[in-house]
Amino acid sequence: MCWIFAYNWKQDSISFLLDWLKNLEYRWYDSAWIVWLSEKWDVFLEKSVWKVSNLTTKVALKKRDIIYPVGIAHTRWATHGGVTEDNAHPHYSESKRFYIVHNGIIENYKELRKHLEKKYKFYSETDSEVVAKLLEELYDWDILTTIQKISQTIIGAYALAIIDKRHPDTLVWTKLWSPMIIWIEDKDIFLASDINALSGVASEFVQMEDNEIVVIKDWKYTIFSWNYSTWSCLNKISRNCEKIEKNFKKSEKWKFDTFTEKEINEIPEVIENVFKWRINFETRTIHNETLQELNEHEIDKIEIIASWSSYFAWYTWTYWFREIAWIPAEVRISNEFLYDTFIPDSKTLYIFLSQSGETADVRECLKMVKSKWCLTFWIVNVVWSTIARMCDMWLFSHAWSEIWVASTKNIIGQLWVLILMAISMWLNRNLQYIKWKEIISELAKLKWIFEKELKQTKEIKKLAKKYSKTKSLFFLWRNLLYPIAQEGSLKLKELSYIHSEAYSSWEMKHWPLALVNKDFLCIFLNLKWVFQEKTNSNIKEVKARNWIVLWVITKWENDEELYDDIIEVPEVDKLISPFVCLLPVWLFALHTATDLWRDVDKPQNLAKSVTVE
Ligand code: AGP
Ligand code: GLU
Repeated sequence: MCWIFAYNWKQDSISFLLDWLKNLEYRWYDSAWIVWLSEKWDVFLEKSVWKVSNLTTKVALKKRDIIYPVGIAHTRWATHGGVTEDNAHPHYSESKRFYIVHNGIIENYKELRKHLEKKYKFYSETDSEVVAKLLEELYDWDILTTIQKISQTIIGAYALAIIDKRHPDTLVWTKLWSPMIIWIEDKDIFLASDINALSGVASEFVQMEDNEIVVIKDWKYTIFSWNYSTWSCLNKISRNCEKIEKNFKKSEKWKFDTFTEKEINEIPEVIENVFKWRINFETRTIHNETLQELNEHEIDKIEIIASWSSYFAWYTWTYWFREIAWIPAEVRISNEFLYDTFIPDSKTLYIFLSQSGETADVRECLKMVKSKWCLTFWIVNVVWSTIARMCDMWLFSHAWSEIWVASTKNIIGQLWVLILMAISMWLNRNLQYIKWKEIISELAKLKWIFEKELKQTKEIKKLAKKYSKTKSLFFLWRNLLYPIAQEGSLKLKELSYIHSEAYSSWEMKHWPLALVNKDFLCIFLNLKWVFQEKTNSNIKEVKARNWIVLWVITKWENDEELYDDIIEVPEVDKLISPFVCLLPVWLFALHTATDLWRDVDKPQNLAKSVTVE
């Protein structure tokens, strides 16, 4: 959930909040609501479900003859209770004195609700409503100590904004694990749970830490903190503002049909950024202080923790690490790692990868690893994110802000940093991997290769249109193309809602082949230097049964009869081959979804960052 809180006692905040709510909609959009307080204790409350535009219309239709300088806007991503207006936030106490908005999950809400229902009438199915009722139940004339008591009562992850109608000039919020930042601009003070929310408006911000309470009153904010273990009294703390460039690119579609396509087309620029000042292509040497610092640690194993597209990026990287740096590297999906037995190792480097830096299970894994004093590293795209601030070291992936649900350009940024790490660690270990200068020369070609692949968009659009009615399909691969096939399958499902799976082509005979029929598309990632002969045999098994085969391959002279359609990719060194298959599978997924009139930028039921487990 994200919300913006505008506190400016002189001007009306409604139009500001509605405008900026649109900026947040990419992250959550099950429902939206807005509430304002006036100086006369009037509360203006409006809710809607699905698109923010529905809310804007409802607000516009309501007559307002007073200004509401203080307000909170919010978009909800439902975790408990359906997408209905009753479940949309804010939730309020029975007396309608306290209004709250909540990001996160209250894990013990059922037992709390069972107790509170003896005294209060609930109107929603959500976990969040128990906080509004607890405020009434536990209020002791001091909102700060009341919040402390609530924090001792609820279990879970939360960012909470609280309005007390009887103190319309005061706003309070607190957080535990869910993200929250304060933006300051002249006399305006804003709150948002996403750095992109107010890009282009505020130039300073303050990070909120867990178990802090912030109070806004008389155009200033005061931060209080308490000792979570001893629950000692509240101490005022001061925290410096951090400057941020106001020139965040406010995303415009330009010539593209969707923002997601625009972000894919930024990839050549991303490559230029990530390598700038890090690789000297003339001398083919690497210059990076963080990597030098990392190489000072004695590391004999690497464990990588991530979720889905970030996880598949890591999978690619483990091939590089074994091939280039001769370091055993293991990839773990975050939620499994979190609940598995953790055996801490002082010589293992634990790397976390998360574009948003807010993914809840990755964050919880990081907490667990740090609690055992292990070395943690993160590849960052959102510098101010929760995970970035918890790691010992990090590298920036230079993908700029990636704000739409499908993660694309950031994956490229992550892969660039990862291969840089693998080469840097090889150099540090003086291993006899003679090809590394060739690899660096190959990397220098990739900006041109991506620009060339983007020029295939028109051709890929045609293929997407031809196959968009497919009910089910396989992405088939061998060896180090596994993560790319999995990523292509993920994107197709995520954007077009077509079912697909990814298997190694050698597996087909074991059982997947039983599923294939004349309406079943098989996409083979079949590159000349990645076991192509063996893959060709697998393709012949499919074609022998007259089924459809679409290839993503290098130009292949003499197997014309084998395939129905081809997306050709340039020839590169085997180790670099994962890069050249990414754009074709992303563009195929994107344009298949577009052909099916899917909302590509905001796929149904999904959110940009999953801040709840
Ligand atoms: C990718 O297109 C998906 N939206 C999703 O799987 C994403 O990769 C995953 O939620 C991890 O996000 P993160 O990198 O921000 O942690
Ligand atoms: N768990 C709350 C709900 O389902 C908040 C979800 C969110 O973070 O938006 O309403």
